[in-house]
Amino acid sequence: MKKTLAILLAAILVLSCFSFATAEAKTYKVGVSIYQYTDNFMTLYRNEIEAYFKTLETEDVKYEITMADGKNDMAEQTNQVRNFITQGMDVIILNLVQTSSADAVIDEIVAAGIPLVLINREPLAYDADGNTLDEKYEGILNNAQVCYVGADARQSGTFQGQMVADLENHGDINGDGKISYIMIEGDPENIDAQYRTTFSIKALTDAGYEVECLDDQVGNWDQTKGQELCANALSKYGDKIEVVFCNNDGMALGAETAIEAAGRKVGEDIYLLGVDALPEAIDLIKEGNMTGTVLNDHIGQSHAAVDVAVKLLNGEAIDNYYWVDYVMVNKAYVDAQ
Ligand code: BGC
Repeated sequence: MKKTLAILLAAILVLSCFSFATAEAKTYKVGVSIYQYTDNFMTLYRNEIEAYFKTLETEDVKYEITMADGKNDMAEQTNQVRNFITQGMDVIILNLVQTSSADAVIDEIVAAGIPLVLINREPLAYDADGNTLDEKYEGILNNAQVCYVGADARQSGTFQGQMVADLENHGDINGDGKISYIMIEGDPENIDAQYRTTFSIKALTDAGYEVECLDDQVGNWDQTKGQELCANALSKYGDKIEVVFCNNDGMALGAETAIEAAGRKVGEDIYLLGVDALPEAIDLIKEGNMTGTVLNDHIGQSHAAVDVAVKLLNGEAIDNYYWVDYVMVNKAYVDAQ
């Protein structure tokens, strides 16, 4: 009888310890808003944010993630941010729809005392006409609770140009002494689009090559638009087009479909470059249907963003900028993997 009582008491003690431990587990509320769910690259990125937060959970610390689709609509995203504030999020991770709206949104989050990690779309300074200046954002990013995690898109553009320069004919297929190209751009407000457009060509001209721009169109990062723009350019300029530069792989996948439909062959009578290193683009490079891409490291970037969010939750000091390197991905690189 005495023994049974002792066992019972021990069991009660163990159980109460357990419930005590559960009661002690801290759950942090994390609000994440992505500019648009249909974006191929940001889909990989946001999935990795969730997966990585999960790996950091312990018995004592949990992360409750609320993920929202900004639907490429700044008004919609502003509402999401306001809901995050009302819901008392402990930290917010934000992939802005419009970097020109950074001030207003960041102000509201800071006023609510919530730490903020901006990702993928770097807010830069603007001039009076709304043009992006090639300068760091001087505003609220000086705040100890706000930072930006991203990659320097100048590097990705430069790698695209270098991959063309490295080809045996340096992209001059018809031997007329110049590289004739078309450019398919992402969202023009986005600094990644601006830098990739400029720096891909700068890498060629800096290396002493002559270039000719046949066409420069905005495809807004979108695969279908990339296909449509490339098909139009191919029917207009035909064999004159030697290189197709796309600001991202989404649009390059579309361009590749258009190139095949036009009876052209990448690596033989045309070259095709993208950025991101989406799995589909890697496959195309393996098959010889894409010349190269640049790894936009969504794993490195999402982990850096989550790590700094955790630091903020723990009240640790942070930097205002975190940079993750791009990597050149050509056939040799893919074959060596
Ligand atoms: C990526 C694009 C993506 C964009 C979204 C860029 O860094 O390369 O694929 O559409 O970010 O902002």
